[in-house]
Amino acid sequence: MADSFSSPQNAPVEGDKAWSGRFSEPVSELVKRYTASVFFDQRMAAQDIQGSLAHARMLARQGIIGASDLADIERGLEQIRGEIERGEFAWSLDDEDVHLNIEKRLTALVGDAGKRLHTGRSRNDQVATDIRLWLRDAIDQIVALLRDFQHNVLALAETHADTPLPGFTHLQVAQPVTFGHHLMAYFEMTQRDAERFLDCRRRTNRLPLGAAALAGTSYPIDRESVAAELGFEAVCENSLDAVSDRDFAIEFTAACALTMTHLSRLSEELILWMSPRVGFIDLADRFCTGSSIMPQKKNPDVPELVRGKTGRVNGHLVALLTLMKGQPLAYNKDNQEDKEPLYDAADTLVDTLRIYADMIPGIRVRAANMRAALTQGFATATDLADYLVRQGLPFRDAHEAVALAVRAAEGKGCDLPDLGRDGLADAMRAVPGAAERLGADVDAALTVEGALAARKHIGGTAPEQVRAAIERARARIS
Ligand code: ARG
Repeated sequence: MADSFSSPQNAPVEGDKAWSGRFSEPVSELVKRYTASVFFDQRMAAQDIQGSLAHARMLARQGIIGASDLADIERGLEQIRGEIERGEFAWSLDDEDVHLNIEKRLTALVGDAGKRLHTGRSRNDQVATDIRLWLRDAIDQIVALLRDFQHNVLALAETHADTPLPGFTHLQVAQPVTFGHHLMAYFEMTQRDAERFLDCRRRTNRLPLGAAALAGTSYPIDRESVAAELGFEAVCENSLDAVSDRDFAIEFTAACALTMTHLSRLSEELILWMSPRVGFIDLADRFCTGSSIMPQKKNPDVPELVRGKTGRVNGHLVALLTLMKGQPLAYNKDNQEDKEPLYDAADTLVDTLRIYADMIPGIRVRAANMRAALTQGFATATDLADYLVRQGLPFRDAHEAVALAVRAAEGKGCDLPDLGRDGLADAMRAVPGAAERLGADVDAALTVEGALAARKHIGGTAPEQVRAAIERARARIS
């Protein structure tokens, strides 16, 4: 496409109008398409109308436009809203973006009043307002979906507050935990995610209108009243900043990327757990697909796609950061490129959370397999060391004594408890003071239930603690 700028499609179109009297020729079709955003920013039409209504009412209150102009504008915008909702609105590339499309239609409907709407306003503060209104709704929707996710996690965690499974580090069996405890880790992650969105909402919820193109306006406007009507907490304090920065959008996308990253980790676990080699869970069939060649396959496509789509959202974050980094103050057309990454980040997260809302209740837990996995990998080795410490052996000596016991068990192809007290004692002989500290109660310390129950402090995996954590979690999100 190296020659696309000399191709006929780049020539001005006969009969097309120049942008204004300032220009001697219209833009070419290709430039028109290249510079237009109406294909995608029309999804902010409702916000654009909402912002325009608030702006017009303020202009009338301040005596900048007349009462009959306001009535015409209100009537016209309501009609346009209906046309858009019914899918009857004729979006046109000739009018570049959502703002110009709506304004042109308004003028066609109500005449001069439509032309007065843009008094004291620029598309620069208009678009910044629209995005903030849109984002505020997106944040509210995402936080609500995060709460649904958390409720589902809590329900499953409660059912499995006592169900043991191996906890892993380095993907090696480490210590027993309960499945409920494991799930509650995702409650905590998504709790921080929700906080991030709510925090970002505060900074998003400021009114740019009044900044006009960049310097403010010479009309006697009342920004506070517009902010109040639109539900903004306050106005943006600096006009140059108001029209040019998109940090709130970057922050939002960062929050999306982090949430997706958390969901991607959970998805990775579901995929592993569902592998027949692991067999900890089964996912409902509606989240899986078969293979076109291998009849036995049931593939966890949905979690795999969550993992894959996380890469895409992370990419949007980098796109937005890069979009911003070279821009001098104030508004630059670069900013028009903020919308597609932003919309897609939000859409991808919303869809992912909706899918998860159904997927979590569809998890079938194979508790017997989880428990069986605990008999491999010496999951209670730390508990044996802790037992010796409680009998007075220094921790480092206990660690070494148990390492020897593990080696002996490995040699025999059995688990630590299978060695019995005598077997353990034999294995530990090389560590002075270890074997003689093994009492009759050592067996109990080596059980999975014993290991779980012992971790009974706040944040620990003891079933009673997991249940308490679930109860606190419910209070935190109610
Ligand atoms: N469509 C534009 C955007 O998304 C609206 C602002 C245009 N402003 C301008 N001065 N060209 O940013």
